[in-house]
Amino acid sequence: MSAFATSLSLSLDALPQQFEIKPFAAPLGAEIIGLDLSKPLTEADFKRIHQAHLDHALLVFRNQQITPEQQIAFSRRFGDLQIHVLKQFLLADHPEIFIISNIIENGQPIGLGDAGKFWHSDLSYKELPSLGSMLLAIELPEEGGDTLFASQQRVYASLPEHLKKAIEGRRAAHSYTARYDDEVVVGVQRPKLTPAQLAEVKSVVHPVVRTHPETGEKVLFVNENFTTHILDIPEDESRQLLAELFAHSARAEFIYRHQWQPHDMLFWDNRALVHLAAGCPLDQRRRMHRTTIQGDAPF
Ligand code: OGA
Ligand code: MN
Repeated sequence: MSAFATSLSLSLDALPQQFEIKPFAAPLGAEIIGLDLSKPLTEADFKRIHQAHLDHALLVFRNQQITPEQQIAFSRRFGDLQIHVLKQFLLADHPEIFIISNIIENGQPIGLGDAGKFWHSDLSYKELPSLGSMLLAIELPEEGGDTLFASQQRVYASLPEHLKKAIEGRRAAHSYTARYDDEVVVGVQRPKLTPAQLAEVKSVVHPVVRTHPETGEKVLFVNENFTTHILDIPEDESRQLLAELFAHSARAEFIYRHQWQPHDMLFWDNRALVHLAAGCPLDQRRRMHRTTIQGDAPF
């Protein structure tokens, strides 16, 4: 083998890495310290990360100075990537990356400024909702900008019997447009959806309680951003029931609040958690890059 071929194969081969998985003192989440995601992972390291993701539902990879290509490559190891319907906020040349940002350039927002103002699970409005999302901090505000996560597995397990009974076997409709117009940052309107975009986000139906396809746990799968109503019950009953479920699902004992550090990359399980953006002062810049991994049809 020539020297060139040798060095090439060495640079492509994954090498084992030393890293720590430290669970938070919280109902969910763990931080990963010492792993460099700019390098390809060995099968064994990947398996450890995959298992940690199932065990903790949210992984915080510290100090990831990675390129869009590297974020996409790592995300792809978990499944196909989903392209967001708001095409104007996709990173140029990398449509797999959706920009979450309040920054305005030349009078135009560069990203979605108000993603996650209500509790939600990403893309629950799709037939195939997201398995998980990876969110990389590119630019952080000095104040605020936290992201909150709530374990919907813990929530389901702790529901009072009458609520468990009321939702048993029930299905609910989810729609991207349910609260679309409520989600405005002061002074910045959300872009109006075109007919083609609206056709991409037709309302879908999912079970109210889903079984996590990898852990087998039961999870409450309704959220205040996208779930419009529970099927086959009167409308006022559906509204009342959803209000009770939402109140229960965001109780403090199920929540981990993430305060971002520079170069954090979060990877959360949309099949197990709901999340919320706490927001930051309007005059502070915040820019994040998200990849979204497609999951299974909920059952
Ligand atoms: C998301 C999201 C919250 C935040 O990227 O899916 O909801 O704090 N982000 O940016
Ligand atoms: Mn989100």
